[in-house]
Amino acid sequence: MSAVGIVAAAGSGLRLGADRPKALVPLGGRPLVAWAVATLLDGGVDEVVVAVPAADRDAFAAVLPDGVRLVEGGATRTASVRAALAAVPREGAAVLVHDAARPLTPPAVVARVLDALRAGAPAVVPVLPVVDTTVAVDAGGTVTAAPDRATLRRVQTPQGFSRRVLVEAYDALPDGVELTDDAAVVRAAGVPVGTVAGDERAAKVTVAHDLALAELQVAGIPG
Ligand code: CTP
Ligand code: MG
Repeated sequence: MSAVGIVAAAGSGLRLGADRPKALVPLGGRPLVAWAVATLLDGGVDEVVVAVPAADRDAFAAVLPDGVRLVEGGATRTASVRAALAAVPREGAAVLVHDAARPLTPPAVVARVLDALRAGAPAVVPVLPVVDTTVAVDAGGTVTAAPDRATLRRVQTPQGFSRRVLVEAYDALPDGVELTDDAAVVRAAGVPVGTVAGDERAAKVTVAHDLALAELQVAGIPG
């Protein structure tokens, strides 16, 4: 089964607050986006399309391997993935959508997602258990509900889809509706989303503390 990877890398990284777009920030001397592309290729994806900030195209091209296709991202993650999806070749059977902000995702996670797609799943996400009690609050901060955490999962990337399912779900999503991940887009279209085991090392780099932890991970803290 042929598989194309999409890397969402067009964000600015406001919460990280670096001097450049987050995906170009170095981790162990290598930009986050280069880690994310390598994870997909090492895990079994055949080719990769990266959504990048329009103003930084050359800087991204300089740090990515030949053959990786760059497209101009949009103002939101949803718009960036939509743009990348339009550049995915029609022959691809599967599409995996990954965040540049999860640089240390082990290739084994990609392989698990691909295996689930090969077994016939239309959509699959890597997940981890929730270890903290997790609550919903109202606008005033008062707890309104405490769902049984045994039923909750933290969702990571890469998220895998049959290409047709993902394209049709994005086509059906009205312009202006912004969802935080791609599984939400296909669920909105009524498609069941399966799960495989995620990995703590696939943690998202959002704030400076996350980047400091990732540097320790690269330096060899046992995984
Ligand atoms: N992303 C994107 N296009 C956007 C916004 C986000 O491709 N317009 C990507 C980011 O590059 C990132 C992923 O979506 O790899 C997850 O987003 P997030 O962690 O929120 O990154 P940023 O939006 O860059 O960070 P912030 O929200 O702190 O500005
Ligand atoms: Mg963001």
